[in-house]
Amino acid sequence: MATYARNFIRLCLISLALGFLLGIEMIIHPAALAYRPIHAHLLLLGFMANMVFGVGYHILPRFQGHVTIPDMWASVHLHLAGWGLLAMIVGWFARLKLIDSPLGHLLLVGGLAECVGVLIFVTIIMKGLVPNKP
Ligand code: HEM
Ligand code: HEM
Repeated sequence: MATYARNFIRLCLISLALGFLLGIEMIIHPAALAYRPIHAHLLLLGFMANMVFGVGYHILPRFQGHVTIPDMWASVHLHLAGWGLLAMIVGWFARLKLIDSPLGHLLLVGGLAECVGVLIFVTIIMKGLVPNKP
């Protein structure tokens, strides 16, 4: 398994653990329910989407011979996904706690990084989805 695919899975497992911990925290302290979108995105974006990216990069070339993963672009996607998620979480906490904090802008910065990463994934996989010749 390529390093970027392994690191996508690591990123996804860390997000899973953090998302669950925040879920438990929301049950214990109802005031923490304000952090519901962070919980939702740690699990849906951090865990589920990154699992799909990591497993997809690993498995799709094996299912579909034409899909080749350019290591450099997949690594760029990994960094955008990891740092983007971190920026989104920090930005979201800043917005929900101190609305004037300049760190609140990190939500947008992280969101844009995530979007660019997703476009890289879409481009790589879409390019390889040509039908097999008989
Ligand atoms: C130990 C596991 C979990 C706990 C304790 C937990 C707890 C919670 C709580 C307390 C809420 C807020 C509900 C409310 O607004 O009253 C919530 C919302 C949410 N959770 Fe979890 N959760 C867990 C696992 C998951 C998982 C695995 C996912 C997705 C893969 C998930 C996705 C969501 C989403 C999307 C929302 C927002 C729902 C909405 O917008 O109404 N949660 N969770
Ligand atoms: C670039 C990535 C993303 C950004 C910047 C983003 C941003 C947002 C924002 C600003 C909200 C409103 C939160 C609020 O009510 O205050 C939201 C809600 C939500 N988003 Fe995303 N999102 C992203 C990706 C995703 C993905 C990939 C999923 C699912 C696979 C998702 C699922 C949801 C859900 C379920 C809610 C409702 C959560 C709640 O009720 O607390 N988002 N998102």
